[in-house]
Amino acid sequence: MSSSTITPWVVGNWKMNPMQADAFQLIEEFKQLLQQQEIPSERCHIGVAPTLIALTNIQAQLKDANRTIFTVAQDLSKVSGTGAYTGEVSAELLRDSQIAFVLIGHSERRELFGDDAETVKAKLHNALNADLKVIYCVGESLEQREQGVAEQVVLQQICDIASVVKTEQWQNIVIAYEPIWAIGTGKTASPADAQAMHVKIREGLKQITTWGANIAILYGGSVKAENAVELAACPDINGALVGGASLNAQSFYQIASAFAQK
Ligand code: 13P
Repeated sequence: MSSSTITPWVVGNWKMNPMQADAFQLIEEFKQLLQQQEIPSERCHIGVAPTLIALTNIQAQLKDANRTIFTVAQDLSKVSGTGAYTGEVSAELLRDSQIAFVLIGHSERRELFGDDAETVKAKLHNALNADLKVIYCVGESLEQREQGVAEQVVLQQICDIASVVKTEQWQNIVIAYEPIWAIGTGKTASPADAQAMHVKIREGLKQITTWGANIAILYGGSVKAENAVELAACPDINGALVGGASLNAQSFYQIASAFAQK
């Protein structure tokens, strides 16, 4: 399978946004846009990652959309199962609420909440063993890019997880390359830079797993309606993980539409 035959993914990471009424409005508007002009599921997978407290409400609200829209958790516990772990939500609890997708290793978790490689591995192990599908985020800082070690950092983050992913579980992984300096800054990696990193990630994945050619590699970092067409045109960019622009129904729709035409 060449990378261009991978069905693209467009996932909105809402982060710690928005308030309930705005979330409701956002989903209603997005469903209406899809009603006016369909984006067929086979052309593009679409997902939204609301806050934990909104997950099941949003999932229920998406049920009558005219196509599948996945509800994605933004994080999960490094502890599995159930038990006396105040404040935590495990992979099994997500699965029990029919949440089938989770983001792991987002740079905001790594940088602000202490998710080091060991924690990320534990979360990934739990998610995959509970049959969740994982969007695994990788990306370098500006300093690392300027030092010329961006590739090394990103490939290390991929290698970090190789020991916990069983052969058949690679099918349940999507990679999101999100250069930290491009997140929420308005600075997008140039399509050429993003494409170059995606090629390296693909090469790395192929060395680790026979499934490597089939894994979707998304780009994230200031993706907007205005740059989506150009990013979607890059052969090895198989979709987008969208922050800020996913909070606007029209922008998110346009981004999904751009990738659906890939
Ligand atoms: P922005 O699109 O706001 O830069 O955020 C990207 C991101 O972190 C998605 O996970």
